[in-house]
Amino acid sequence: MQDDSSSFTFDLPRRNDIPMKEKLEEIRQHAESFAIENTAQVEQFRLQFLSKKGELNDLFELFKTVPNASKKEMGQKLNELKQFIQGKWESAQVHFETEEKGANKGSIDLTLTPESSFTGSRHPLSIIENEIVSIFSKLGFVYSEGPEIEDDWHNFSALNFPPNHPARDMQDTFFISEDIALRTHTSSVQVRLMESQKLPIRAIMPGRVYRNEAISARANCFFHQVEGIYIDEKVSFADLKQTLFYFVQELFGNDIKVRFRPSYFPFTEPSAEMDISCLLCKGEGCNVCKYTGWLEILGCGMIDPNVLTANGIDAEKYSGFAFGMGIERIAMLKFGVKDLRTYFSNDIRFLGQFESL
Ligand code: DAH
Repeated sequence: MQDDSSSFTFDLPRRNDIPMKEKLEEIRQHAESFAIENTAQVEQFRLQFLSKKGELNDLFELFKTVPNASKKEMGQKLNELKQFIQGKWESAQVHFETEEKGANKGSIDLTLTPESSFTGSRHPLSIIENEIVSIFSKLGFVYSEGPEIEDDWHNFSALNFPPNHPARDMQDTFFISEDIALRTHTSSVQVRLMESQKLPIRAIMPGRVYRNEAISARANCFFHQVEGIYIDEKVSFADLKQTLFYFVQELFGNDIKVRFRPSYFPFTEPSAEMDISCLLCKGEGCNVCKYTGWLEILGCGMIDPNVLTANGIDAEKYSGFAFGMGIERIAMLKFGVKDLRTYFSNDIRFLGQFESL
């Protein structure tokens, strides 16, 4: 069998015999001791270290011959050195540029338009969350929040979940102890408001929720929801429909159509899911809406009298509606995001696209 390490040493050109480590150290010392005292020296520094024929480039050539076993360590060292050299050059550049400007003009030119500084961009999920909250606040819904670590009562029991409901199962819920879990939905905040606020209540409640799901393009172990409730005397299903219709028109435009499909949630009766006409094909049928022309965007319903009663509200006198929606889903539809994981990958190429919003 061929011995890789010996053939490696023989094949190397002379220059590469110098161990990478020593060469790194040598160039670092050169760069450190290089005194930059004027603009000409800024350029000299660049030529000596950063140009094509510069010392750093030689090192990158030498790096190609480093045995695989030390590639990681040497690579790290090489990058550190590169950053150091680049940093020294850039700050010298800034320093002498400003000094030169000052010398030429004698003072700062106050009539110049200021250079805009990059302040980052809002996360697409925050953009959508803010938009949803602001639409509902125009209707008098008040912003509210609740804890992400919840007890069984607020997350399940007070919301009329039967004791053996599958949503309580270990597979869906991250339990911390028998009674404490990471909330699986923002509906728990409804309960907190019912027990602490005076009626009527009209609130919009965004937040992060957790479910024990395998991570994929369409599911994650945490995501975000916005919950809404309205409780007063004589609140009807017509109020619910009109409120949600107003909401989607504000969010997606006046051409949007909606439909309500009967559904089931333990805490609402009757319950429904609301669909909007497909944003892409406008209802004609395409692969985003799976050729139905409709996209499901939220769950809703009239608050079950059992829930009102469990929270000390007179269900004879008061009624209310509730709704809940996933922010990721709405942001996906609005921005055409195909993979849920991109929201959490912190890739600035993705995040930078939302700069102007
Ligand atoms: N909590 C439900 C979920 O996580 C969403 C939901 C449906 C909330 C109907 C509601 C509602 O307030 O009325 O899937």
